[in-house]
Amino acid sequence: MKTLIEKIGLLATPLGSHPHRGAEQGQIAEVADACVLIEEDRILYAGPRAGCPEGKADRVIDAGGRLVTPGLVDAHTHLVFGGWRQHEVPLKLQGAGYLDILRAGGGILSTVRSTREAGEEELYRKSAAILDGMLALGVTSCEAKSGYGLDLETECKQLRVIRRLQETHPVDLVPTFLGAHAVPEEYKEHPDDYVNLLVERMIPAVAEEGLAKFCDVFCETGVFDPDQSRRVLEAGKAHGLIPKIHADEIDAIGGAELAGEVHAISAEHLIATDERGMQAMAEAGVIACLLPQTSFYLGKTYAPARRMIELSIPVAIASDFNPGSCPSYNLQLAMNLGLLRYKMQPAEVLSAVTINAACAIGLEGEVGSLEAGKKADLVIWDAPDLDMLLYRFGQNLAGTILKAGKEITR
Ligand code: NIG
Ligand code: FE
Repeated sequence: MKTLIEKIGLLATPLGSHPHRGAEQGQIAEVADACVLIEEDRILYAGPRAGCPEGKADRVIDAGGRLVTPGLVDAHTHLVFGGWRQHEVPLKLQGAGYLDILRAGGGILSTVRSTREAGEEELYRKSAAILDGMLALGVTSCEAKSGYGLDLETECKQLRVIRRLQETHPVDLVPTFLGAHAVPEEYKEHPDDYVNLLVERMIPAVAEEGLAKFCDVFCETGVFDPDQSRRVLEAGKAHGLIPKIHADEIDAIGGAELAGEVHAISAEHLIATDERGMQAMAEAGVIACLLPQTSFYLGKTYAPARRMIELSIPVAIASDFNPGSCPSYNLQLAMNLGLLRYKMQPAEVLSAVTINAACAIGLEGEVGSLEAGKKADLVIWDAPDLDMLLYRFGQNLAGTILKAGKEITR
């Protein structure tokens, strides 16, 4: 089955399957009057109409002169969780800080209670509906973390929900083990025993069952310090899990340096990161996975994206969808904030949510650019060009979405 997308006003895509850093972050191919030819789930051709291979397509989609880009990749989500946390917001407005709420047994720990109580089927249905919403916004691949179980049974329950979604939902999912998301209440008085449990039992069991590709840790004041985080990430590595790290979200306590030291594939948040941290990341080739919606929602400053690009750190932008610091999976809104708050140019933002995001979750060989051989994941936007896509905000501009060559009906 061959599908031809014709009358593309502008085809915008990064090229290649490597992280785009420095000046290359802003270098994309922009082809006017283009077409894309698809066979089954793969791209056969993407480029100028004049170069399109001859032959009859089984189906023709008229892009109506609009913009086409690769499907968006959301490289950081906490997709699977029980409950919500709407009641924390009024408390925060009265002055309670994110870490104060966590210390008082709320925050992440309150979602841990709801997730432990939730059945697997209930979590599956809730997460599938959320994924439908993400897909409707143009997100065709996504990373999903555990981290609301903090015991082996519930962490595995979350990861099995992700595995079932991998098998049943059109969005491609990549699973991350985040057992080190907080110290569970049971271990409050002796947190190192929880780190021992993670290292000796939970990580080996998760790896053994093949439930995760990455291992992540929340390295933060009052959560896991750099030494504890190092132990977790090294244990993950020893069991074949690639390290990721929530670093310098609130305080710069050495998370970015640790990312460099363990050669993490990516470091996330980096709101408070300093020059030393960024140098370490640049040297080790760590991708910065920036989460501007979280800065917005927590009322924090924004990660120094421009400085990172200057230092040749590849920048990805993701949603950080979770029930606490970011109850939004709208990657289009994260892109708007990338433009307006990080001061990234539209082409830099596009690389951040396509190829660099794909690299951050190990999918760069399959997605992240529109090139022959890659998966036919793409979006026809209700916009003529990238400037328009990033200029408008607050409404869904995804017009037609193709996932693995199939048109998504909404
Ligand atoms: O990435 N920072 C740690 N984890 C999440 C928040 C999780 C929550 O508040 O439930 C984040 O922001
Ligand atoms: Fe997160």
